[in-house]
Amino acid sequence: MAPRHFLDISDFDAATLKNIVTRARGMKDARIGQPKGKREASEPLKGRMLALIFERPSTRTRVSFEVGMRQLGGDTLVLSSNDMQLGRGETIADTARVLSRYVDAIMIRAAKHSNLTELAAAATVPVINGLTNLSHPCQVLADVMTLEEHVAPLKDLTVSWVGDGNNVAASWIHAIGRMGGKLRIGTPEQLAPSADVLAWAKAQNADVHVTQSAEEAVAGAHCVITDSWVSMHDTDTASRHNLLKPYQVNSTLMAAAAPGAKFMHCLPAHRGEEVTDEVIDSPASLVLDEAENRLHIQKSILLHCLGA
Ligand code: CP
Ligand code: NVA
Repeated sequence: MAPRHFLDISDFDAATLKNIVTRARGMKDARIGQPKGKREASEPLKGRMLALIFERPSTRTRVSFEVGMRQLGGDTLVLSSNDMQLGRGETIADTARVLSRYVDAIMIRAAKHSNLTELAAAATVPVINGLTNLSHPCQVLADVMTLEEHVAPLKDLTVSWVGDGNNVAASWIHAIGRMGGKLRIGTPEQLAPSADVLAWAKAQNADVHVTQSAEEAVAGAHCVITDSWVSMHDTDTASRHNLLKPYQVNSTLMAAAAPGAKFMHCLPAHRGEEVTDEVIDSPASLVLDEAENRLHIQKSILLHCLGA
C-alpha cells in the first residue's frame, strides 16, 4: 500500500482537511491544564519513530514535531542534512529507501520542493512537508485552525495576504481552493504567487484575487496575514525591500480591514519590516496561538499519516 504522505494541502479533499483540523482541536482541548511533556494516556504512536530532516533552520517546526511525537507516545530523530551523507552527494532516493528501513515516518524541511517530492517517491513510509521553497502546508493548516477558533469557519471568511507571494501564500491559496473562503492578495507584480498556483486556483474556481494595492487587498478582510520579506531561499537585496515597503502591515493598514480584523504571521517576524510592533503585539494578533497550534496540528497530521 502506498504511504500516506502529507505533501501539500492541494492533495486532499475538504473532508480530510476538516477532520485533521477537528482532531487537532479535540487534542488541544483535552490537554488544557496538563504538563506539556505528559504523554497522552492512549499513546497512539507508541513504538513509532519519526525522522526530522532539516536542510534549513527551524524553531517552531522542529520543536512542535518533537514535542507532539512524544506526547503521542512516539520518538524522534533530528537529522541536519549537513551531517548526513546527503550533504556529500548521496541521492535523496537512496536516503529515502534507507531511512524507510529505520523509521516509521519522515518530515523534511527541504531546500527545494523537488527534494521533497523525490523523497516521497522513493520512501516506503509517510513523508511530511515541513516547508519547501514552494509551500508550507503544516503552517497553513495550523493557521486555518487558529482562525476558526478565534473567528469563524474559513468558508465564511475573507482573508488578506499582504507582501511577498511566497511559499506560505501558496499554501493559503491551496487552503482556500480546497476549504472555501475568499483570499485577497496584495503583492508587487514581481513577487506575486507563481502562475502555476494561480492557474490551479482558477481551475478550482477558488475565490482568490491578486492586486498590487495593499489597501484594496485588506478591504473587508477578517484577517490580515503577512510573512517575512526575505524567505530562507531568497537573496536579501535592497530592491526587494524597496518593492515590499508599501506592503508593511501597520496600524493604518489594519484600520483599512474589517472592524475587529485579526493579524496573523507564521513567525519568525522581522519587526519594523513586514509588520510593526504595534500590530504584532496588539490584541488583534494571533501569532502565539498560531505557533501553539503547530503542535496540535502536527499531532493530527502524524495520526493521519500513520493511520492511528
Ligand atoms: N513558522 C515556522 O515554520 O517556523 P520555523 O521556521 O521556526 O519552523
Ligand atoms: N516564508 C518563510 C517562512 C518561514 C517559516 C521562509 O520560507 O523562510
